[in-house]
Amino acid sequence: MSITGSRVIHTADYEHLRAIINWKQAGQELGHIEGEPLNIGYVCVDRNVDLGRGEKLALVHEGHGGEIRQFTYRDVMLLTNGWAHFLRGLGVRPLDRVCLFLDRHPELYIGMMSVLKTGAIAEPLFSAFGEEALFARASDSGAMAIITERHHLGKVRKIRDRLPSLQVVIVIDHEEEGRPLREGEVAFRMMDHRRDTFPIARTSPESPSLLHYTSGTTGAPKGAMHVHGSVLAQYLTSKTVLDLQEDDIYWCTADPGWVTGTSYGIIGPWSVGVTQVVVNAGFTSDRWYETIEKHRVTVWYTAPTAIRMLMKDGLDPVRRHDLSSLRHMCSVGEPLNPEAVRWGREAFGLDFHDTFWQTETGAIMVTNLPGMPVKPGSMGRPFPALEAAIVDEKTGVPITEPGKIGLIAIRPPWPSMMRTYWNNSATYYKKFLNGWYICGDRASLDKEGYFWFSGRDDDVINTAGHLVGPFEIESALLEHPAVAESAAIGKPDPMNMEVVKAFVALRPGFTPSEDLELDIMNFVRKRLSPLAMPQEIEFVDRVPKTRSGKILRRVLKAKERGEAIGDTSTMDDD
Ligand code: PRX
Repeated sequence: MSITGSRVIHTADYEHLRAIINWKQAGQELGHIEGEPLNIGYVCVDRNVDLGRGEKLALVHEGHGGEIRQFTYRDVMLLTNGWAHFLRGLGVRPLDRVCLFLDRHPELYIGMMSVLKTGAIAEPLFSAFGEEALFARASDSGAMAIITERHHLGKVRKIRDRLPSLQVVIVIDHEEEGRPLREGEVAFRMMDHRRDTFPIARTSPESPSLLHYTSGTTGAPKGAMHVHGSVLAQYLTSKTVLDLQEDDIYWCTADPGWVTGTSYGIIGPWSVGVTQVVVNAGFTSDRWYETIEKHRVTVWYTAPTAIRMLMKDGLDPVRRHDLSSLRHMCSVGEPLNPEAVRWGREAFGLDFHDTFWQTETGAIMVTNLPGMPVKPGSMGRPFPALEAAIVDEKTGVPITEPGKIGLIAIRPPWPSMMRTYWNNSATYYKKFLNGWYICGDRASLDKEGYFWFSGRDDDVINTAGHLVGPFEIESALLEHPAVAESAAIGKPDPMNMEVVKAFVALRPGFTPSEDLELDIMNFVRKRLSPLAMPQEIEFVDRVPKTRSGKILRRVLKAKERGEAIGDTSTMDDD
């Protein structure tokens, strides 16, 4: 395989790939000279115009009702320049945090590049977040601006008084005849602001670029801080794993509130200079196949829950559409079950290529490369520019014995590795052992060096590929007037991998009922998000805790799964 020029030549020779694929080469291909500035906004936008892709479509956007908007790389350049000037005018300075709290409109994609051009730090947030989830993230980062839309403005207004750093709220779709904006809110219509030039911030590869919040077992969500140099990894993996080439039409189904939707829903594809499709609509299998057919999608990046939903609808909808444009398919976020790979073969005549990575790693770490034989159920092998291993959980020493389970570990550094957790470097340093970065997942190797995922090493819940922190849910539950104690765990689910199940002990005077259960569920949905909402609530007399008051989620999980409970010597009621 050679990655000279823009074309990838496939071969299954993994060792050869390890010898020739490296980050330095990515920098060279992107025209970056060591010691010179590097800005993702330039690499993903203006550079494409400089390379003659000005009239090429950067974004084909389909709205809810099927309306299509198209943007060339030149359009994106002029619009990001206009928006970056506007942000500067509002006082946005390098390293300020700017939240993007938007549905998947073109403004989300173009806005993020505008923020990066100013040198400020972009903080993408799911628009489905309720006010408490938004507050936790915007207050931790000390955001000075939030870019949002009318539909979500109410949630911002509810928490504004509690955000002392927030100076301005930018509303992308304000209409004069609508309700007036309040003090500290400004209207900005992207299409009215085109500028030929903008002095892009001279950021270095180590300058902060993005803050992506992710959930852990304990404490509030943590902001993984990424840097502009991450683009080297996102570019190289987009080329070699997603196999993006000049003429591809690429569709990443992920929302940019999730790291997949930025690393491979904006930065990766635009750094390579391909046309990407974005659909701002919910899931139906027909709509998804229509998207592939209508836009002649060639490369598709999606997630196991979505694949299982497509499987559920069977092969008929597949056969009703012409999907012959598809040539490469990848998956991320959860274990890709062997049946899903086999079904993909039957439905599309292609393999889904699994990719394993995290918010913290910023780019794909373990994967099935194009041309590499896919073993259904395995995540594949380390990306060839990296060293990844399975290590012993106590010593951090690599385990080479086939089938023996240990922790997935990556040897630092790599360009897209988080540089810290915002305001929380202590937790960041805990992620390392014996010189390895520890992902927090368990897996084993087979004789050929393929990785087989076995499970997470903590209590974080993975529902439909999205991580939800039990602590955040438990805290939200405790805000409900009827709840005295709470615990949240992941309950195995055939479609979403896991769903949230909550255990609740009620305050005196409250009795369990279906109405109360629904009320508590909705309470969490509104405050946090639909994904964090418990699908089931079990009323209990008390929640099992250690003597020091830590919730024993493993006891609840074991009971739920019918497994042995294990050591209970620290329980407070044994
Ligand atoms: O537990 C692993 C699971 O998702 C976690 C990372 O989640 P997040 O930071 O939200 O980023 C997801 C998108 C990159 C991992 O620690 N995970 C991710 N990919 C896979 C996976 N589990 C099994 N197989 C995968 N391919």
